[in-house]
Amino acid sequence: MSDNKPKPTTTDAGIPVPSDEHSLTVGRDGPIVLHDHYLIEQMANFNRERIAERQPHAKGSGAFGTFEVTHDVSAYTKAAVFQPGTKTDTLIRFSTVAGERGSPDTWRDPRGFALKFYTTEGNYDMVGNNTPVFFIRDPLKFQHFIRSQKRRADNGLRDHDMQWDFWTLSPESAHQVTWLMGDRGIPKNWRHMNGYSSHTYMWVNAKGERFWVKYHFKTDQGNDFLTQNEAEKIAGEDSDYHRRDLFNAIKEGNFPSWTLKMQIMPFEEAETYRFNPFDLTKVWPHGDYPLHEVGKLTLNRNPTDFHTEIEQAAFEPNNLVPGIGASPDKMLLGRMFAYADAHRARMGVNYKQIPVNRPKCPVHSYSKDGAMRIDNVTDPVYAPNSKGGPQADPSLNPVNDVWGAQGDFVREAYTLRKDDDDWGQAGTLVREVLDDAARDRLVSNVVGHLSQDVSDPVLERAFTYWRNIDQEIGDRIAKGVKGK
Ligand code: NDP
Ligand code: HEM
Repeated sequence: MSDNKPKPTTTDAGIPVPSDEHSLTVGRDGPIVLHDHYLIEQMANFNRERIAERQPHAKGSGAFGTFEVTHDVSAYTKAAVFQPGTKTDTLIRFSTVAGERGSPDTWRDPRGFALKFYTTEGNYDMVGNNTPVFFIRDPLKFQHFIRSQKRRADNGLRDHDMQWDFWTLSPESAHQVTWLMGDRGIPKNWRHMNGYSSHTYMWVNAKGERFWVKYHFKTDQGNDFLTQNEAEKIAGEDSDYHRRDLFNAIKEGNFPSWTLKMQIMPFEEAETYRFNPFDLTKVWPHGDYPLHEVGKLTLNRNPTDFHTEIEQAAFEPNNLVPGIGASPDKMLLGRMFAYADAHRARMGVNYKQIPVNRPKCPVHSYSKDGAMRIDNVTDPVYAPNSKGGPQADPSLNPVNDVWGAQGDFVREAYTLRKDDDDWGQAGTLVREVLDDAARDRLVSNVVGHLSQDVSDPVLERAFTYWRNIDQEIGDRIAKGVKGK
């Protein structure tokens, strides 16, 4: 049938190509001529195929799906995406943090859980992780933290000494490191892990009332993990194990889903809560703030072009829609700058015109020109104008997703609350959440990690660090390492 006939190869300009195999030469055995522009187009394109990888979170993959609101949370937010019955197209990208673009999926690391909701009010990005906390609480330490997890300057190797040096000099990392060294530090696959906003955000309802919230996307597949040994074996056999798992599951119609549940804190309670509710190294215990169900995220469509739909996907925590705001979490405020800057560096100023990043609602911005602009710009190109250009909505001003602050400029840590300390919640995780078998695996994972080229002073600090989290676990780790 004529439908099955292959399409003719063309150049990028659509001109038919005479050969897929032979370059243009002077006689069969002679030199290649420079005006074989098709050969040159092939070579030139190839040389430019790679864009820079994401600085952190370089290795990952993703899929498309739908978020459906199943429970009424309109008392807490006016955001269209969270109104009862609303269904919104979504994109998710999962990732590891420290590894490069080709690194094994099963290295121990937090996993990224980055969501883009294509809402009627613009793109809303919830760029979270599979862990409810983080290693640090000030964005000034983020670059240093990531460098300590990546590669040394001299030999280009990852280095456990460097990792523990940073962690033990940064006691605020204890909660996240405990979580990381436990079972959830290597999920079985992306389908079998939770996703968290980790940060506290603000929700604002139609009356202008404000709430502090945390997002918990609970896996409907159940949490599951790989042991250190299983993960190492898989890393050697199939470095794309998690990417393959997600793609195949969706291809087979086995659509993974997550139930979104929120912790909701009335605005005023933040002032007196026993933990600083904006400190990213802390959770809000469920006993204080229970989960409220909101809806279901289901992934049902694979990308068809990994590069344009996943590699060029640009998530940014600053993409917040009306009814959702930021919070005084210093890390979140730092991230509100970092991501769009990274996208501009990685893909150029017009990255939001790449189809995967395009909002599915009308865009009437005053942005203009720049490399690779595709959308036509129309006059007037300035505001205010009397020429019928777009006008900002004064009802959004003064904005109600704000909070008050006062004081002189300082470079200081958050003010401590009654129960704020670096070790407490990590200790609770060890003693009250893990069972005996999980504690044994935690000790074994830490002993294994510390036994790989960690130098003496750092090692001693690591024992003290673990004893601060839990005396018994610390003793067992010290014994395990020294007994080797
Ligand atoms: P809860 O008993 O109400 O909750 C315990 C939490 O721990 C659940 O969210 C559970 O997730 C999670 N969990 C279970 N196994 C592990 C594991 N191996 N590694 C990491 N997390 C696990 O207690 P609290 O809310 O009072 O919190 C106690 C401690 O639990 C905290 O200090 C924190 O370390 C940890 N935690 C708390 C969370 C929170 O938001 N409050 C979230 C995640 C962990 P699931 O229900 O999905 O199995
Ligand atoms: C990726 C910066 C903290 C989750 C990135 C990228 C940068 C960055 C520059 C690469 C973006 C790109 O090139 O596309 C920072 C800074 C942080 C911080 C400066 C702290 C101040 C966090 C935290 C979380 C997080 C706390 C989770 C709660 C992610 C995820 C990605 C990512 C999921 C990958 C997004 C994707 O899949 O494209 N981060 N980050 N980051 N970050 Fe952060």
